[in-house]
Amino acid sequence: MNIQGQAALVTGGASGLGEATARELARLGAKVAVLDVNAALAEKVAAEIGGIACVCDITQADSVNAALDKAEAAHGPARILMNVAGIGSAKRIVGKDGNPAPLEDFTRVVNVNLIGAYNISRLYAARCAKLEPLEGGERGVMMFTASVAAFDGQVGQQAYSASKGGLVGMTLPMARDLAQHGIRVCTVAPGLFATPLLKELPEPVQQSLAASIPFPPRLGKPSEFAELACHIVTNGHLNGEVIRLDGALRMAPR
Ligand SMILES: NC(=O)c1ccc[n+]([C@@H]2O[C@H](COP(=O)([O-])OP(=O)(O)OC[C@H]3O[C@@H](n4cnc5c(N)ncnc54)[C@H](O)[C@@H]3O)[C@@H](O)[C@H]2O)c1
Repeated sequence: MNIQGQAALVTGGASGLGEATARELARLGAKVAVLDVNAALAEKVAAEIGGIACVCDITQADSVNAALDKAEAAHGPARILMNVAGIGSAKRIVGKDGNPAPLEDFTRVVNVNLIGAYNISRLYAARCAKLEPLEGGERGVMMFTASVAAFDGQVGQQAYSASKGGLVGMTLPMARDLAQHGIRVCTVAPGLFATPLLKELPEPVQQSLAASIPFPPRLGKPSEFAELACHIVTNGHLNGEVIRLDGALRMAPR
């Protein structure tokens, strides 16, 4: 799909990897809607890229539908959905105090990272399936953001890894479901990227994380993630696949 002139939705577009993706899509000529719970940052990014901010919580159907309506009124129906919103957590299943991890923590992370991503995808896909096909029968493209933690989750990462593993698991069946509608689905599993989250860590910790990456021994640049996200849109044969973007990193147990 040619990105130029298409309407695109980017969840988590107010920060980090989502922000970089929103900026790259806009640079390539897309009309970008920044979907995020963080209203102030979403407005800021949208203003800078000539897009529109649609404040929404991806876990809430009403909130998502309102955002999709607002984006569509401004830009026309979207053919590109970049699912980048996500949250982290670190909790051992049995804490150092001997107590079980709070179930709420697991539920919260899976609810945003997995169920939220599925929620907006189903609402977007139903709209996209009704659009006129483009050349070759293609109607839309959807990307999910997993993590290498889907495959090599570390100590304390059960909730995060389960949520990201869920995205990996649903990629192929969703691509198969949506094949009849001409909608492609791919997932990117990033390694360690220099987003606000990691940049808040002390410099020595950042350096040691960077040194754990075989090559290149540095944190990934959000622009590198955004380039792959946009390549998934333009490469019509990429479908049903999970792509690690990690400099050959395999996470250690801790
Ligand atoms: N940074 C990394 O190294 C890295 C590595 C692997 C995977 N990831 C994944 O990449 C994605 C982006 O990470 P990041 O580092 O850019 O994080 P970030 O915190 O900078 O950005 C995440 C954005 O998602 C938004 N968000 C959170 N919950 C939301 C909800 N319910 N509805 C709508 N928006 C919501 C936040 O407001 C924020 O703007 C996440 O899914 C994360 O798990 C990041």
